[in-house]
Amino acid sequence: MTEGPGTDFHSHLIPGVDDGAADLAESRAAVEALRRAGVRTAVTTPHFDGSLTHAPAMAAERLAAFDAGFADLTGDAAVVASGVRLFRGVELMLDVPEPDVSDARLRLNGGRFVLVEYPGLQLPLANADYAIRALRDGGWQPVLAHPERYRNVDDSLEALAALRFAGAFFQVNAGSLLGQHGEGPRRRASMLLARGWAEYASSDYHARGIPAVAAARAELVASGAGEQAELLFAENPGRLVRDESPRPVAPLTASTRNRHSWWRALLHQFSR
Ligand SMILES: [Fe+2]
Repeated sequence: MTEGPGTDFHSHLIPGVDDGAADLAESRAAVEALRRAGVRTAVTTPHFDGSLTHAPAMAAERLAAFDAGFADLTGDAAVVASGVRLFRGVELMLDVPEPDVSDARLRLNGGRFVLVEYPGLQLPLANADYAIRALRDGGWQPVLAHPERYRNVDDSLEALAALRFAGAFFQVNAGSLLGQHGEGPRRRASMLLARGWAEYASSDYHARGIPAVAAARAELVASGAGEQAELLFAENPGRLVRDESPRPVAPLTASTRNRHSWWRALLHQFSR
């Protein structure tokens, strides 16, 4: 199988606006690191609280900072020379049940997809699906960032099932697949792939260390899941940037496992 160029839609590359790149030098290095990891198209997604959408003046101020930072980023000669195509969106914190994402800057490359997360890496104990349904009812397509990282999701994945039923797509973090967020997230990321419940994998790169996308993609390919790797890291993110729906990702099953891979043990343990 030919490997398509990577597309990544979750990262924190805009200088000085969140806990990602602190300044333009870090942004520049981060773009270069993504390029070396095989990424040719990136949507960068600074943190943005959904509650701000109900405080228009504050939202305008924060988005103006993103505008200025994104202009600095995309105007930088080294970034331009890298050849990495850059687009923008946000990682929207669902700290209110009905965020207003009608401003195109709050959506991934201005299309219908919205990258969302819940506060504090905890799913709300009740009605977590409300915000997902509200976004869907508004005509938008929520994509839940790193579902495997929520601390109060147990291995039944029941709480996540409710969000999928409500219509969320799932984006796993490449680093989770490599165990960089700990054993629980690694196990749950594997379980999501075993169920075919992840449409996308992204770096969530904060401009520190090496983005995990190349290694995670290579692990999948080595374990016999080349088709899934292509969909998760290239085709489906590419479709998202073009505002197209993802193709289904086949569950990783016994037939997609092979030799000396951590997938073997995990999938044997959790395949249904
Ligand atoms: Fe993030």
